[in-house]
Amino acid sequence: MTDPRPKQGKSVFIRTYGCQMNVYDSERMAGLLKPLGYGLADKPEGADLVILNTCHIREKAAEKVYSELGRLKRLKADKAKTGGEMKIAVAGCVAQAEGPEIAARAPQVDMVVGPQAYHRLPELIAKAARERGDVLDTDFAVEEKFDRLAAREAAGPSAFLTVQEGCDKFCTFCVVPYTRGAEVSRNVDAIVAEARSLAAQGVREITLIGQNVNAWASAPPAGVSGDQWGLGELCRHLAKIDGIERIRFTTSHPRDMDDGLIAALAEEEKLMPYLHLPVQAGSDKILKAMNRGHNGEHYVRLIERIRAARPDIALSGDFIVGFPGETNEDFEATLALVEEVGYASAYSFKYSRRPGTPGAAMGKQVAEDEKDARLARLQSLLESQRQAFNAAQIGAELPVLFEKPGRNEGQLVGRSPYLQSVHVRAPHSLLGKIVKVKIEDVTPNALAGALSSKEEAAA
Ligand code: SAH
Ligand code: SF4
Ligand code: F3S
Repeated sequence: MTDPRPKQGKSVFIRTYGCQMNVYDSERMAGLLKPLGYGLADKPEGADLVILNTCHIREKAAEKVYSELGRLKRLKADKAKTGGEMKIAVAGCVAQAEGPEIAARAPQVDMVVGPQAYHRLPELIAKAARERGDVLDTDFAVEEKFDRLAAREAAGPSAFLTVQEGCDKFCTFCVVPYTRGAEVSRNVDAIVAEARSLAAQGVREITLIGQNVNAWASAPPAGVSGDQWGLGELCRHLAKIDGIERIRFTTSHPRDMDDGLIAALAEEEKLMPYLHLPVQAGSDKILKAMNRGHNGEHYVRLIERIRAARPDIALSGDFIVGFPGETNEDFEATLALVEEVGYASAYSFKYSRRPGTPGAAMGKQVAEDEKDARLARLQSLLESQRQAFNAAQIGAELPVLFEKPGRNEGQLVGRSPYLQSVHVRAPHSLLGKIVKVKIEDVTPNALAGALSSKEEAAA
């Protein structure tokens, strides 16, 4: 008699740390392994392959990897006891920065694969099966990577799409130029093909991502005359794709926020009125020491121009407190800049000394308790701005893209144009659709609203 149970496939568990680039890469790795028979596992216990897609940006993020590897060592031993085998791969930015160190500190790791080499995972897995010891691949070859990735399966109505990788800015605190390599832009045709395929699968919102997404530049597509395109032209071009209703992009650098992109924000309705534009600090002395390439005044004027072009734009930013040499007065300048700009949301961090970056070797490192105190003050100001921004939406009617069912029966969760989560009682049939919602309430992390009766009737 034949066994009626389905054939047991292999399983892969992927844990993602860090930024959107890693989220995108993890999704692509899963897609790459599917044809090899790997299904996604929701926990590492018992998986045939575990991939840690790691982040090197701050010390804490990097150290997490080693503690997770300790736990995986035990799971690998448990699996071996039952006659099975668990392979462990470290991918992402820690793999790039500390490949040999990982191999030395964590012999349970079978593969180390950098962010520009993961398209070769299938070969690495085969090699790791043949050979004992580590297999290491941390080459940089961006074009080849995208060429080799399989077509993508959309996971919902909103998707990330990598258009640019790497960074040439060399902020003195940051490891990204070392872990991700030089700035590279994907070409228009490749981006359009990916966007079209996502749209055909029901994706309504794409977020173009890159470490310096607005440094994206490439020749226009075949048949279109003119100079290099910038991100503004790319967004306008993608807006013509049927089905794509919303376009976002992140992370932008103030130095690359050119007139073409500001004009696109003003004129292209599919571009959402939300911009993540990190400034890091408010003091000109610190901005200079960070090698940001602009001062506080330049940033504030830039924001004014953007707001003049798109009055409803909401801003978000990143901040670092306690960069070497930051005095109380410098820190006050950061608070003053935040007061002046007004953010809808923001991320803020204590400066973390990263080996190999110029900042790590600077004198006048700030004491940890001072950093704690500054971070607490900054975060309380940013949080009050965020709450005020959210509360200001009460009574407004906002278009919401419904992304998933809510926790409560009969509820859906979606996103406002300003990236706020919105909880609404709504039928399942509205998943993947953009619908007008009347905002009625705010909770600390979300908005709540109701469908207008017209929308309800149409659903
Ligand atoms: N390319 C983006 C950001 C990449 S890293 C940009 O230029 O804005 C994301 C954020 O991490 C940075 O904006 C910064 O605020 C923070 N960050 C980077 N290196 C850091 C470090 N050494 N210590 C603390 N925060 C850091
Ligand atoms: Fe890091 Fe600066 Fe490059 Fe952003 S622009 S990735 S902060 S070096
Ligand atoms: Fe981290 Fe690498 Fe992103 S260091 S923030 S995962 S580019």
